[in-house]
Amino acid sequence: MSSNEKRLAGEAAIRYVEDGAIVGVGTGSTVAYFIDALADLKDRIQGAVSSSEQSTAQLKKHGIPVLDLNATGPLALYVDGADECDPHRQLIKGGGAALTREKIVAAAAAKFVCIIDSSKRVDLLGRFPLPIEVIPMARSLVGREIARRGGHPVWRDGTVTDNGNWIIDVHGWQIADPVALESELNQLAGVVSVGLFARRPADVVLVGDQVM
Ligand code: 5RP
Repeated sequence: MSSNEKRLAGEAAIRYVEDGAIVGVGTGSTVAYFIDALADLKDRIQGAVSSSEQSTAQLKKHGIPVLDLNATGPLALYVDGADECDPHRQLIKGGGAALTREKIVAAAAAKFVCIIDSSKRVDLLGRFPLPIEVIPMARSLVGREIARRGGHPVWRDGTVTDNGNWIIDVHGWQIADPVALESELNQLAGVVSVGLFARRPADVVLVGDQVM
């Protein structure tokens, strides 16, 4: 059921792709369906800006040009999945460890279309452990700061991000004010980025092929 909804969402996002566009592309199993559908349009778009090595490989396999964000300028559209989505279209992302590049591409895009299955919908963010990308030497320092704020930090041992950094997953937070928490965590020394997408939430959320 969940994978069918992921496929429907990935395919439904195609309707937001305009002719001649450069499309920002996220990461994950739902986005993989979007990339497969995008391949059918590849002669009608200029190319894609990718948020991960994983998505880059899939885009290239389909012959879709992968462009450098420094060369493209602002993007009209970014399509990505999420691990949790609240009623305000605020998200937890980073289950696939691609949060930093995802946040960069989302920030460059005029419209962020988030594609999810219904299991990702929550009233309050935080059941899914919040991923935080950290500079390796700051892992313990950031972990202590999280514990001081009532979170339970777990190092995702063995995972190295595309940027050469590490991931801490924070368990046990019920996130009542995602914008405030994102801003606060962004200030901690050693934090590269936080998997809360609240200051820049999604503009459109597709749950399967339905707009939320
Ligand atoms: C990767 C992400 C993904 O969008 C998120 O983990 C959802 O993945 P999936 O579509 O496989 O359920 O944030 O960093």
